[in-house]
Amino acid sequence: MHLSEHFPLADHHTFHVEANSRYWLEYTSIRDLHDFFNTTEYKDSPRLPIGSGSNLLFDGDYPGVLLHSSIVGSTVIRESDDAVWVRVGSGTLWDDFVETAVASGWYGAENLSGIPGEVGAAAVQNIGAYGAEVGQLIDKVEAYCIPDAQLQCIDQKECRYGYRQSRFKSDWMHQYVVCAVVFKLSKIPHLNLSYADLENAVGTGRSISLNGLRKAILKIRNAKLPDTNQMGNAGSFFMNPIVDQARYEWIKDRYPEVKSWIQSDGRVKLAAGWLIEQAGWKGRQLGRAGVHEQQALVLVNLGGATSKEILDLSARIQEDVQSKFEVVLQPEVQIVNGFL
Ligand code: EPU
Repeated sequence: MHLSEHFPLADHHTFHVEANSRYWLEYTSIRDLHDFFNTTEYKDSPRLPIGSGSNLLFDGDYPGVLLHSSIVGSTVIRESDDAVWVRVGSGTLWDDFVETAVASGWYGAENLSGIPGEVGAAAVQNIGAYGAEVGQLIDKVEAYCIPDAQLQCIDQKECRYGYRQSRFKSDWMHQYVVCAVVFKLSKIPHLNLSYADLENAVGTGRSISLNGLRKAILKIRNAKLPDTNQMGNAGSFFMNPIVDQARYEWIKDRYPEVKSWIQSDGRVKLAAGWLIEQAGWKGRQLGRAGVHEQQALVLVNLGGATSKEILDLSARIQEDVQSKFEVVLQPEVQIVNGFL
C-alpha cells in the first residue's frame, strides 16, 4: 500500500485539468484495502475509486482519498469446450486485456477494442461501443465491501448493468472497491458487425477475422476520437439520450435524417453527437475548451483549459440542444467535486 498526500492529478485523468487530491492510495491487495479502511484517520474521508481517469472531470481539488488499483494481470480460471473464464485484476488496462483475448482466440471483447481505461472502472461504468457492452461479458465482480470489511464475489445479474449504468454507480456508490473481474468469453467464432460503422468498414457480405475486426475498430476510433495525450478529453461527454416515442416523432417530423436506435421498450435512443452538431456546436470553442471537429460528442481541452471552461461549454451545449429539440443531455463523464 502506498499513500500519497496532496497528489497532483493532471496526469491521472485524460482531460489533464490541473487539480490535487488530498490523498491518493495505491493498493496492491485486498489486505491493503482492509488495513486502510480500518485506520480511523481515513474512515470518514470522502473516497472514490479511480482507474485511468478516462471518464472523469475534476472540478477543483478532491478533499478525500482517491483509490487506485495496482492489481494487474489475467488468469484463466476455468475452461469448457466453448467458453473460457478469465479473472482480470482491476488495475489492468482494459485494452491490454482485449489484446490478450483476441490473440488467444476468445470472442466477445473485440468490439470494445481501443477503449481507454482500466478493467475495474470498465465494470463500474459498463463501457460500450459498436453494439457491445462490457456487462454482457462479465460473469462476476470481485469487490471489497467497505461496510462489511470483506471481499465479495458479486454475480453479474446483481450488478444490474444498463446503458453506461451499474449499481456501483447508483445504490452501491462508495460501498465497493473493485479488485478483479471474471469475464466469460466464447471460444466459438462469432463476430458482431451490426453497427453501421463496422458494416461500412468490413463491406456487406465480406468476412473478417477476429484480429481483423479489432484492427478495423482501432482504425475507426483513431480517425474519430482525439488522442487524449495530444488533446485532453474523456471520450463522449454526454450520454446518448433516450426519449419517448412522442418526442422522437416530433423530432423526426422536423429532421427526418435524425440518427436514432429503437430500444426494446419502444423508447428511442438519439445520437447526442448529431443533436450537438445540429445545434451548431461541432468544431466550436469557448475559451480553451472545444467541441471536437470529427465527433461533436467529445469535448476537448484545447490546452490549459480549467474545469470551469469545460463545464461552461457543456452547459451552453445542453441549453442549445434543449431549446432546439427539448431533449436534456446528461453528462456521461463523471464530474468529481468535493461532494462526491
Ligand atoms: N454523429 C453526427 N455528428 C457527430 C457525431 C456523431 O451526426 O458529430 C452521428 C453519426 O454519424 C452516427 C451517430 O451519430 O450516425 C452515432 O455516432 P458514433 O457512431 O460516432 O457513436 P456515438 O453514439 O456518438 C457511442 C458511444 C461511444 C462509442 C461509439 C461507437 C456513447 C455516449 N458513446 O458514440 O463511446 O465509441 O458509440 O459505438 O454511448 C464513450 O463512451 O466515451 C465513447 C466514445
